[in-house]
Amino acid sequence: MKYLEIKDNTLFIDGVSTTELAKKYGTPLYVFSESEMRGRLSELRECFTEKYPETRVAYASKAFLCKAMAKLVQEEGMCLDVVSGGELSVALTAGFPKERIEFNGNNKTPQELDMAVSEGIGRIIVDGLDEFELIEERCRKHSRKISILFRITPGVKSSTHDYVITGKKDSKFGIPLEEDILMPLVKKALDSEYTEFKGFHFHVGSQLFENESHLKATDILLGWVDKVRKTFGYDIPEINLGGGFGATYTNEERREFSYFIDPLMKKIYEFYDKRGVNRPAVVTEPGRSIVAEAGITLYTVGAVKEIPGIRKYASIDGGMPDNIRPALYQSEYTGLLANRASEEKNDCCTISGKCCESGDIIIKDLKMPAPERGDILAVLSTGAYGYSMASNYNMCLIPGIVFVREGADRLVVRPQTYEDLISRDEV
Ligand code: LLP
Repeated sequence: MKYLEIKDNTLFIDGVSTTELAKKYGTPLYVFSESEMRGRLSELRECFTEKYPETRVAYASKAFLCKAMAKLVQEEGMCLDVVSGGELSVALTAGFPKERIEFNGNNKTPQELDMAVSEGIGRIIVDGLDEFELIEERCRKHSRKISILFRITPGVKSSTHDYVITGKKDSKFGIPLEEDILMPLVKKALDSEYTEFKGFHFHVGSQLFENESHLKATDILLGWVDKVRKTFGYDIPEINLGGGFGATYTNEERREFSYFIDPLMKKIYEFYDKRGVNRPAVVTEPGRSIVAEAGITLYTVGAVKEIPGIRKYASIDGGMPDNIRPALYQSEYTGLLANRASEEKNDCCTISGKCCESGDIIIKDLKMPAPERGDILAVLSTGAYGYSMASNYNMCLIPGIVFVREGADRLVVRPQTYEDLISRDEV
């Protein structure tokens, strides 16, 4: 990551010493480089929203959200994709502009829809057949009209972990592309006095390094745009291409956003130019690619154990409660001793978490200087789906979050306390 550097044997992030951060705030600790996140959003501005008119980015807040993050996204002029009442309420509490919030999710509850409709958020991406009726009911109740898109299941494969493929036909997400399912829904939406039908949405998968599945899904989506025009004489004013752009964890070569965006926009421009029809607004929903590499997690090394001839384990004061991804997806990470960052990596150690779970391994066989109790370990690229998937397993505390920017640090989420663990207990 651009904002990581080593000075005086110490790892710095965005101009701040990680060992000082560990001292000041304790470990485990999530640290995010604001410059990196803002940089990613400005890259997207350059190659997407400023390059092509009528385009928007809705940052997928499931990757990482807290009030400070919502504020950052707002300041950068982007929209926000939420998938639950919880994410929506964090966004609203942070003062995020309602009209720039877009609500995804395969089972929005009636209560969540109530909240979305009564607050008058920007878009609801309708995921299922009866969700439309639920939305209409709420619009009637609150005397509101709401903009909707239909999430379609394009039926394309993508090469990523099975758990994060979402665009294939056999999926819990989206509306199946069957003429007698989708078209009656479109008609309902067009006829309804409560909904403004904006268009179609897809999301093909996550952590992608090839643009193929986005391109295929766009072809399919545009085919349905055509069908809607021919059947109802309606030109769809908006299409949403989801997120999924990959990030670097270890050795993967991250693709520039333009690698995905340019061919997609070319395809869309050609389609519309050929038909002489006004182009729709185009929206993308990146999450991981904005925050993954901006985040690191700092831990303190505790027990170091050598099993002669087999392996050496260094245990840290966090693990699967703050980063479930290695256990859940066999995701690979890398890291280094932040307080001994220039020392020779002449040892090899497996970094294990502190949970009572053999699968709680954060990094297997990491080359590093021989670790000692008290060393500070930095695990890199933990910004996406780390904090957002954190749990209190083994009643471990969820770490606090610090934002750093050009040499300055600020605590944006305090670490959990033991009192927090029982704050909802009624007995
Ligand atoms: N839009 C929709 C509708 C989505 O479902 C997702 C991710 C995104 C956007 C953002 O995708 P991204 O740009 O972050 O790839 N927990 C998994 C990732 C699950 C992604 C689910 N949907 C992980 O840690 O790898």
